[in-house]
Amino acid sequence: MSDHGTEGRAASGIDYGSYLRLEELLALQTPQSVPEHPDELLFIVVHQASELWFKVLRHEMDTLITALEGFDTMRALLAVQRVNVLTEIVAQQLTALDTLPPQRFAQFRGYLGSSSGSQSVQFRAIEATAGLRDPHFLQAISEHGEPPAEVQAALQRPTLQSLVLALLEHEQVALEELYMGPGPTPLFLLVEGLLEFEQRFARWRFLHVQLVERIIGPGTGGTGGTLGAKYLSRTVSHKFFPELWAVRARFYGR
Ligand code: HEM
Repeated sequence: MSDHGTEGRAASGIDYGSYLRLEELLALQTPQSVPEHPDELLFIVVHQASELWFKVLRHEMDTLITALEGFDTMRALLAVQRVNVLTEIVAQQLTALDTLPPQRFAQFRGYLGSSSGSQSVQFRAIEATAGLRDPHFLQAISEHGEPPAEVQAALQRPTLQSLVLALLEHEQVALEELYMGPGPTPLFLLVEGLLEFEQRFARWRFLHVQLVERIIGPGTGGTGGTLGAKYLSRTVSHKFFPELWAVRARFYGR
């Protein structure tokens, strides 16, 4: 599975705190409110933890892409399973902020300035890597100038959908055939795994819209200058894999 041996050798003197760089990690939460608002720590940690998980997610998406490019179905299957678990974790984290009452968020929101999740480079890189290319998305990421290099690099790569379709072509199986054979094949599980990724990602979007509506209300604009929940609810219908969704309708006529 891996090029590494079964057991690595530990550097001398390394322990839990130094291995995980805990001193630095735990010094990275710097609430801005004065006096410090008791709920700002939770708000910061949920964002920081989400960014850490985005980092792992991007890493695992790279593994998935490498497997797809190498026509390695089993490795791709393992990678997509991990990607899906990570996406679920990121979505579930949002629920911690459901415990933040609106009047309390209002007490420290002013200290956030113009910072907004819509400036998350990693989130945009994930969307671009997965395959968003539609004008809506491109407009959102270039609204404040050129998209960051990570996002531009992701936009240059083939989408996940085109990679999986290339794998099917390589295996000489049509997408529809996966759903018609006598039993589930690894390719079927892989394609359904990708669809599952899309579904879980949309779940993050939905939980986030609900959180925003719950905390700042459906009509309040965001710190990033959008219409807030109204803008976000439109993003729920973005599709990474339109062909994988469309294939289902073929079983029900036109
Ligand atoms: C009190 C909780 C939260 C509120 C009120 C909130 C509010 C908003 C609003 C209003 C937007 C739209 C852009 C804007 O005008 O600012 C937005 C976008 C975004 N937020 Fe949040 N958010 C919250 C928590 C989070 C958390 C925990 C994350 C995790 C990283 C996050 C990530 C994002 C991302 C990635 C976007 C861009 C989404 C897109 O454009 O499709 N938000 N947020």
